Amino acid sequence: MIPFVDLKAQYASIKPEVDAAIQDVLNSCQFTLGAEVAEFEMEFAAYSGGIRGIGVNSGTSALHLALLAAGVGPGDEVITVPFTFVATVAAIHYTGAKTVFVDIDPKTFTMDPAGIEAAITSRTKAIMPVHLYGHPADMDPILTVARKHGLTVIEDAAQAHGAEYKGRRVGSMGDIGCFSFYPGKNLGAYGEGGMAITANPEYARTIGMLRDWGAEKKYHHVLKGYNYRLEGIQGAILRVKLRYLEGWTEARRAAAGRYGTLLAGSGIPLPEAAPNVRHVYHIYAIRTQNRAALQEALQSRGIQTGIHYPTPVHLLPAYEDLGYRAGQFPHSEKAADEVLSLPMYPELTAAMQEEVAAALLDAHARLGP
Ligand SMILES: Cc1ncc(COP(=O)(O)O)c(C=O)c1O
Repeated sequence: MIPFVDLKAQYASIKPEVDAAIQDVLNSCQFTLGAEVAEFEMEFAAYSGGIRGIGVNSGTSALHLALLAAGVGPGDEVITVPFTFVATVAAIHYTGAKTVFVDIDPKTFTMDPAGIEAAITSRTKAIMPVHLYGHPADMDPILTVARKHGLTVIEDAAQAHGAEYKGRRVGSMGDIGCFSFYPGKNLGAYGEGGMAITANPEYARTIGMLRDWGAEKKYHHVLKGYNYRLEGIQGAILRVKLRYLEGWTEARRAAAGRYGTLLAGSGIPLPEAAPNVRHVYHIYAIRTQNRAALQEALQSRGIQTGIHYPTPVHLLPAYEDLGYRAGQFPHSEKAADEVLSLPMYPELTAAMQEEVAAALLDAHARLGP
């Protein structure tokens, strides 16, 4: 049995430290925000090249508050991609703004900057690129067009902790960067968590207030806020895990390299990293025209795979009201039909990868591309 991810193996490798960190929070009774969260905010912001970090209760909350801090609201438009997890679009919807999609670059699965200019209207307020699968979006042309039109750039870095674009860390290139610490993410809490990072003190102040009922100080509510606070126990756990993140990321990158070697010459389209990026392989997605049969063949040999994501957001029933139709974003639609995510996590062994590759090559030879 080769699981798609193995959270138990990772916990086993750091159990004494995590257990002690949790015990410390229990002793301190700082269950929500508190010292551990404050330390983690500084450490993670520094790791990601940000100045200020604001810990929140999910990546979705980070995106929501980032948009609000940027002044996005009803009547505004925000540009993003349909080939993403639904949360990206949900966060825009929460503000009352309208989502406007542009297609992806089929090589990197991230926003194609060439499509942005045509999507801009007088109502456009922000651009939200997604660093999908751990591959950074092509930020320089995105930032250039944003500056030209006076738009805020909010990076959805939920899947890309520590990824780099031309030597710069994701989350630090736009105006605000948003991360998720959902358990299966490259840096995962043992529950929910997220963070917004920014170099802009006004955005930091606004997000910091909005996550805690919009209060400037206790019971003095200057904004209509939310209960989006990060829990103390999660902050303490994430501080422990952050110390391992670089090692885990390198293990993911090595595993991706190993898949590349094992599957080379097979004709199976493998993920490609642009030459100027550090891909952190949250997801390792191959492409196949025979996905259902391939997935079934792997499953029959005890190998779990995933599909991220089977339907682009513009074709999801929940977002029908945006008014898009099939055929409008062909690269996103094709990717949604073809991607298949192989097991990928730091603890994945070379032997396990050899088993995955053997099963895949065997099924591929029988089924075709
Ligand atoms: C691309 C993307 N954006 C946003 C989110 C939302 O993060 P969370 O689940 O922490 O709310 C996720 C993950 O779930 C994601 O993958």
